[in-house]
Amino acid sequence: MDIKKTVDLSWDEFDELKDPRPAENEFDRVVESAISRRGMLKGIVAFGSGAMVFGAGALTSATSARAQAAAFPFEPIPTATDFDIHVPDGYQWKSVVRWGDALWSEADGAYSPETGVAVAMSNKVFGENTDGMELFAVDGKQVIAVNSEYVNPKINLPAASEGVPRSADEVRLLQNLQGVTVMEIADNGEGYAVVKDSPLNRRIDHNTKMTMDGPVAGAELVKTNADPEGMSPLGTLNNCGSGKTLWGTYLTCEENFNGYFGTTEAMQDQKPIQLPAGFSRYGIGGEGRYAYEKFDERFDISKEPNEPHRHGWIVEIDPANPDSTPVKHTALGRFKHENAAMTQAVDGRIVVYMGDDERGEFMYKYVSNGTWAVGQPTDGLLSDGTLYVAKFKDDMSGEWLALTSETTGMEITDLLVHARMAGSHVGATTMDRPEWIAVNPVKTEAYCALTNNSRRGADAVNSGGDSMAPNAPNTRETNNFGQIVRWRPEGEDHGATGFTWDLYVMAGNPEVYNNEYSGSDNVTPGNMFNSPDGMIFDSKGGLWIQTDGNYSNEGEFEGQGNNQMLLGNTETGEIARFLTGPYGCEVTGLCWSTDRKVAFVGIQHPGGSWPDGEGKPRSSVIQVWREDGETVG
Ligand code: FEO
Ligand code: CA
Ligand code: CA
Ligand code: CA
Repeated sequence: MDIKKTVDLSWDEFDELKDPRPAENEFDRVVESAISRRGMLKGIVAFGSGAMVFGAGALTSATSARAQAAAFPFEPIPTATDFDIHVPDGYQWKSVVRWGDALWSEADGAYSPETGVAVAMSNKVFGENTDGMELFAVDGKQVIAVNSEYVNPKINLPAASEGVPRSADEVRLLQNLQGVTVMEIADNGEGYAVVKDSPLNRRIDHNTKMTMDGPVAGAELVKTNADPEGMSPLGTLNNCGSGKTLWGTYLTCEENFNGYFGTTEAMQDQKPIQLPAGFSRYGIGGEGRYAYEKFDERFDISKEPNEPHRHGWIVEIDPANPDSTPVKHTALGRFKHENAAMTQAVDGRIVVYMGDDERGEFMYKYVSNGTWAVGQPTDGLLSDGTLYVAKFKDDMSGEWLALTSETTGMEITDLLVHARMAGSHVGATTMDRPEWIAVNPVKTEAYCALTNNSRRGADAVNSGGDSMAPNAPNTRETNNFGQIVRWRPEGEDHGATGFTWDLYVMAGNPEVYNNEYSGSDNVTPGNMFNSPDGMIFDSKGGLWIQTDGNYSNEGEFEGQGNNQMLLGNTETGEIARFLTGPYGCEVTGLCWSTDRKVAFVGIQHPGGSWPDGEGKPRSSVIQVWREDGETVG
C-alpha cells in the first residue's frame, strides 16, 4: 500500500498550490547556492544583511540525550514512522473525542466508517481536523473549546468525485464540520470523556450568527446584500490556533479564509471592491477549495465581493454561555491569523501578540487603550486600541511600528481590513510564516514559531512585493526547517514598543547537513524536528513545541519521523521529544485539565485509519497523563 495516498492535502499544502508566489529562476538558484555555500559557523552566524545570534542558553547547552533526560521529568523518546502515538515511559494516552463523535445523544452512531457523518447530524458531532483549543472552568465544570480548522472533502464525501460537493446539502455538511466545538468534559473514572447533552455543549460553524466590533463594524467594506448594515457576519472560517482572554473567554483565529471563496463567473472588467489589490495580497480569487460558491452565493465573490472582508479576524466566544453571540474583533486586524497570545502591559493595558501565517508576512501586536484588572468590565478592550507590526533589526533590537492613518496613509477601516498592506507601508520584517506565539508566564518574554519558508531567497518577494531576501531573524534561503524567535520587551513591559530578540532554536538536520541547515547547537540527532507550529507554555514556564512538517523521513528530513511534540527549557535551550503522532498527522493544540494532571493534545489529519484501526482516519483530541498521578505541566 502506498501509505501516502491515504493522506489528503493539508490546508497549508493546498494554499501553497492555490496561491503560488513568484517562481524563482535559474539565476536565483545560482545566487542561492553561492550564498548557502559561504562558511557557516555554528552558534553565531553572520549571514547576508543580518546577524543571527543564538540565545546564551542555546549556545552553552549540553545537548546529549542523557543531559536532556536530566533536565526533563521524562526520558526523551525516539522518532517514529508508524500509525500510532508514542509517549515516554511512565505516561499513558487515550482518546477523548474523535471527528464524528456525538455531542448530544441524538447523534449517537452518527459516524459511519464507510460514509462518515450524514448532513442531518453534522452539527451534532465533534468537527473534523482539530486545531487550537483551550480549557475553561465554568461553575465547577470543565469546558473545552476546540477549533476544527478544515475538512478533508474526500473523506467526508466519499460518493462525490474527488470530494467536490454536488449539492447544497453536501456543502452544508462540510460547513457544519468546521468551526468550533465547545463541550463539557469530565473524568468518568476511566479518563476524560465528552459529557453528552450538557447544556454547555455547542457547535459553532460556517453559518453561525456573529457580530463585529471595532472600527470596521458597519463599514462599507463589510456590507453585503444579506447584511446591508455590515454588522452581522455568518460563521467563522478556517479556525486555526487559539487564545484565552484574561477574563476567561475563548479566542478563535481565522487563518486561510481566502480558500473558501470563488466565483462562478469571470470577473471580467468588474472592479468589485475599492481596493482590488487586497484580493491578490490575501490570495482571494479563482475557485474555492470546496466549491461552496456553486451552491452558496455568499461565497461567490462576483456576487458578494465584500464577504471575504468579513473573515480573517480574531473571534471571541464565551464558553460559559451557549446562547452568546461570537464577536469578530476588527481592531486586531485582518490577516491569516494563527493564534492570539494575550498578556498585559505593566500599566494594565491588554496586549495581544499575533502571527500572520504566510510566507513573508508579518508579526503583529495589539495594545488596548483601556486598562483592566480582575473583576473590572471588559468593554472596549478588544475594540479600541492600536495595532502594531514587528520590525527586527540586525543589531538584535526591534521595534513595534504603529499602524495608524498617519503612519500608513490609509483610512482606519481600510488599514484594518488590509493590515498586510499597512504593514508593508511601514516596512515590517518579512517572516518565515509566523505560526503560534506564546508568552512566557514566568518571565517577560514571548516566542514565535516561524515554521518554514521554502521561498525565502535573495530575489524572492511576498505577495505585496516586499523582499524575502534573508534577514536578521530569517537567515536561511529555502528554509524547510524553521526556527523559533523570542523577544524581550524593553523595560520588561509588553506594552513597550522596543524589544531585543534572539533565536531560541534553529531547526535543522545535523545528520544530513554540516552547515546552517544542520540547525543550532541545541538541535541534535536525538531531538531533531522540522516545522515548529503549535507552541504553548505550561504553568511552570516549559515551552511545548508541536510540529506540522515534512514526515517523509527521507532526504533532508531523514531521521525526523512523524510530526511530534517536544518540551523546551527556555533557560538552558535544551529540547526533548515527548510525543510522536501517527504517520500523516500534524500535532496541534494543547491545554490542561484544571488540576494539570491531564494534558489534552490535538491530532490533526492523521493517516491510515488511525485511531480506530479500520475505516477512515479520524482527527482526535487525546489525553496524556502520568501513571504516578503527578501533573504534566
Ligand atoms: Fe493553521 Fe498556520 O496553521
Ligand atoms: Ca496545518
Ligand atoms: Ca498551525
Ligand atoms: Ca503549519
